[in-house]
Amino acid sequence: MIFTVAIDGPAAAGKGTLSRAVAERFGFAHLDTGLLYRAVGAKVAGGAEPEAAALALQPADLAGDHLRTLEAGQAASKVAALPGVRAALVQFQRNFARREGGAVLDGRDIGTVICPEAEVKLFVTATPEVRAHRRWLEVGGDEARVLAEVRERDARDMGRADAPLAAAADAVVLDTSTLDIETVVGQALGIITARLRETR
Ligand code: C5P
Repeated sequence: MIFTVAIDGPAAAGKGTLSRAVAERFGFAHLDTGLLYRAVGAKVAGGAEPEAAALALQPADLAGDHLRTLEAGQAASKVAALPGVRAALVQFQRNFARREGGAVLDGRDIGTVICPEAEVKLFVTATPEVRAHRRWLEVGGDEARVLAEVRERDARDMGRADAPLAAAADAVVLDTSTLDIETVVGQALGIITARLRETR
């Protein structure tokens, strides 16, 4: 069975929690595509050339807590604006999306560019304040700085020319500003279950 769930949205909207719940419930493989850009950003910070770093990316490069920091997120969104970096990562993501057994991918352009044919497209969002508060609970430090970082990354991700962050026209928008994540997970599982029945 080929079945892709595309989950897009801005930073700290709840994509990771939702994707992991979907993967666990349906036994789908999960790819956090932000990690690809974070890993490239880390290599570039270490002196590598962006496109070459993207082409040479290995599974082992995607592990490590150093990829989870605010700085790694900023470095990721800078290299993610480079068309050569994005192009280098497309085929791997497409193959992952259409692998046998089902897949869930979370990112910014999964439903729009990587897999427009995805059987389910979800766009998870929340206000910048709510997202910054969640991220601050994870990383600590100064909450105002986390909010500034979220806004800066949103502006760069939405404003870039190549594959900007946007909901696909046929995506279901889930707003986690006021709903708790368990409720949103429940809604998403319902949507996917219904679509699986239709495609069988
Ligand atoms: O999702 P995460 O916060 O880990 O993503 C880090 C950065 O990588 C994003 O801010 C965005 O610039 C970039 N990204 C992207 N396309 C994706 C996933 C992430 O441009 N599919």
